[in-house]
Amino acid sequence: MSSERSAIILAAGLGTRMKSSKPKVLHELLGRSLVGHVLRATKTVATDRRIVVVGAAADQVRTHLAEHAPGVETVYQAEQLGTGHAVRIALEALPELAGTVVVACGDAPLLRADTLDRLVESHEKAGQAATVLTAVVDDPTGFGRIVRDEAGNVLRNVEHRDADETERAVREINSSIYAFDAAVLREQLAKITTANDQGEEYLTDVLELAREAGHAVGAVVVDDPTEVLGCNDRAQLAGLRRILRDRINTELMRSGVTLEDPETTWIDATAQVGADVLIRPGCQLKGATAVDEGAEIGPDTTLTDTIVGSDAVVIRSHADQATVGESATVGPFSYLRPGAKLGEDAKVGAYVEVKKSEIGPGAKVPHLSYVGDATVGAKANVSAGVIVANYDGVAKHHTVIGEGSFVGSDSVLIAPVDIADGAYVAAGSAINADVAPGELAIARGRQANKPGWVAANRPGTVTDGAAGRAEDERRPAGE
Ligand code: UD1
Ligand code: CA
Repeated sequence: MSSERSAIILAAGLGTRMKSSKPKVLHELLGRSLVGHVLRATKTVATDRRIVVVGAAADQVRTHLAEHAPGVETVYQAEQLGTGHAVRIALEALPELAGTVVVACGDAPLLRADTLDRLVESHEKAGQAATVLTAVVDDPTGFGRIVRDEAGNVLRNVEHRDADETERAVREINSSIYAFDAAVLREQLAKITTANDQGEEYLTDVLELAREAGHAVGAVVVDDPTEVLGCNDRAQLAGLRRILRDRINTELMRSGVTLEDPETTWIDATAQVGADVLIRPGCQLKGATAVDEGAEIGPDTTLTDTIVGSDAVVIRSHADQATVGESATVGPFSYLRPGAKLGEDAKVGAYVEVKKSEIGPGAKVPHLSYVGDATVGAKANVSAGVIVANYDGVAKHHTVIGEGSFVGSDSVLIAPVDIADGAYVAAGSAINADVAPGELAIARGRQANKPGWVAANRPGTVTDGAAGRAEDERRPAGE
């Protein structure tokens, strides 16, 4: 027998009940598409080839796979004539396929790699031609039922709609996940008919046909029945998402992460979180986000493809493709956009937006500022309300704020402009020329005070009255 191992994933159906312009298997579940999760689960066991059967919206599925699962092959099933037909098409397109073939469904994303390992191991050890993964569930309505003899041997699968009363009482269901011997599968698929209530070619019939042809057929019962759950509509998708969330969160907590409120913490399967990280309620960690040891995130923070260094603190903020250095602090209410890179001990505070800019080690942008296309040197101070005017309506320009420099409040830095290391910008300046080291730049109108203006121009007003009383108080006694 060949030692090859491959996987065929059925994903040709549109998933009408999703009511979507997107095929069902491309719907997202904590960082991966549904089919992406299934492919991931098959990765370790299917050492040779992974094949996805596509049909409805095939181009969308192919494009997605090319981007997210390079090396995965597709086979086109023009018409969805049944699960048996789908596998038959795949085997016909791949005549050289041999050894063990795992079959799984693209819309059952909670399957674990370990379970597939167990399935294939049991299948190969027992020398079986077909091994079906089954689950014992409380409500088997709609599923295929596993019919066994008194000795417990698997006889066949019967679909719910084709089953009689006794068969319907069986709570062991077909998960639609199998391990087959490729040669036997080929041989038996040639024999299946459409003699069933749906008039489809049922893959499930291979179990009975293989057994009748004298091959060994068996089953592996899954420990955790949630692994075989499929998804037909968006309410079920939300249910799967909660189950996966709990799984991911439990694993993280066991690995030393504190989650204050696991039910409002949504961490993608693709994100990484180090030990002793504290995550407060209401956070999402998406995509390739990675949070290093000892950092504190939240409450109410969304991080997408963002790297957070150890011991950094991010409070009530939103970050996308940003990097937060070790021990840096962000928030509350900060917005880090793509290319925001905060150095060690840097601070970005309340109502500050940073885009495509480096904030050097120990530099501070504490309040109400916009920093775009800029390089801020180490330990520089960007005071409240500073705006980097990076866009002239046509092009973006770069701004430099040198190491240890101080930019006063409410200044606008009109790019491109270069403030050297160790320079000052006076508060309220509009800077459009470079500032050299050690210089103070003041770029604002001079203040002029006009004595007696209120009495002359606003006589009898509240202001005039207040001015009069203040002047009386300031007059030396006795005058
Ligand atoms: C199937 C099983 C049933 C099992 C259940 C578990 C059969 C006949 N029945 O039923 O025993 O309990 O899964 O969820 O196999 N697909 C194709 N091409 C086709 C038909 C289906 O790619 O021509 C894909 C679908 O997109 C889907 C998967 O195969 O991802 C399962 O097909 P579906 O029609 O949903 O089978 P069920 O009726 O759920
Ligand atoms: Ca189904």
